[in-house]
Amino acid sequence: MSLKNKNVVIGVCGSIAAYKSCDIIRGLVKLGANVESILTSNGAKFITSLTLQTLSKNKVYSGMFDILGNLEINHISLAKKADVIVVAPATADIIAKFACGIVDDLLTCTVLTSKAKILICPAMNSSMLNHKATQSNIETLKSYGYEFVVPERGKLACGDYGDGRLASLASILSVVEGLFL
Ligand SMILES: Cc1cc2nc3c(=O)[nH]c(=O)nc-3n(C[C@H](O)[C@H](O)[C@H](O)COP(=O)(O)O)c2cc1C
Repeated sequence: MSLKNKNVVIGVCGSIAAYKSCDIIRGLVKLGANVESILTSNGAKFITSLTLQTLSKNKVYSGMFDILGNLEINHISLAKKADVIVVAPATADIIAKFACGIVDDLLTCTVLTSKAKILICPAMNSSMLNHKATQSNIETLKSYGYEFVVPERGKLACGDYGDGRLASLASILSVVEGLFL
């Protein structure tokens, strides 16, 4: 299978699993996709834009207002260009924002504006994931047609054991490919 000629926007959020987005980007690029990254400001506390830029061979976008003055791109350019937006890792915070229609950064703006397929790959502590608020937000987004890659069960970064680990690279890549079958 291949993602040739597909424009993939990856949203990287403020999760300890942010480093795993590197392998996801490498996997997407290997499959032939053109990958552009949006790193939330909290995501940038976990991983640098330089790393994402080097792996994707594309500029990395972060602040919604940083792109002002760039005549080639505006706050909805990535939304229009994307064939799929993969949010990996997706925090409880960003899922809540998507579900409520909050648009206070470039990633929320891009997702709310886009007509592309949206794939959410949550990663968080199991209590956060299983909280009624998060579950209700996930159900809301599913009702909007957003796709999810179910997080895995296992040892979490916080030391707890339970659901909430970012799904495996193989699962995420196979779901992305499956969206185009
Ligand atoms: C060390 C550390 C690890 C965190 N890991 C996660 C996580 O895996 N999942 C999550 O939903 N939030 C996690 N958070 C909380 C988020 O960083 C916080 O909700 C932040 O506002 C998310 O911002 P963003 O959604 O704009 O990227 C973590 C916070 C810290 C300090």
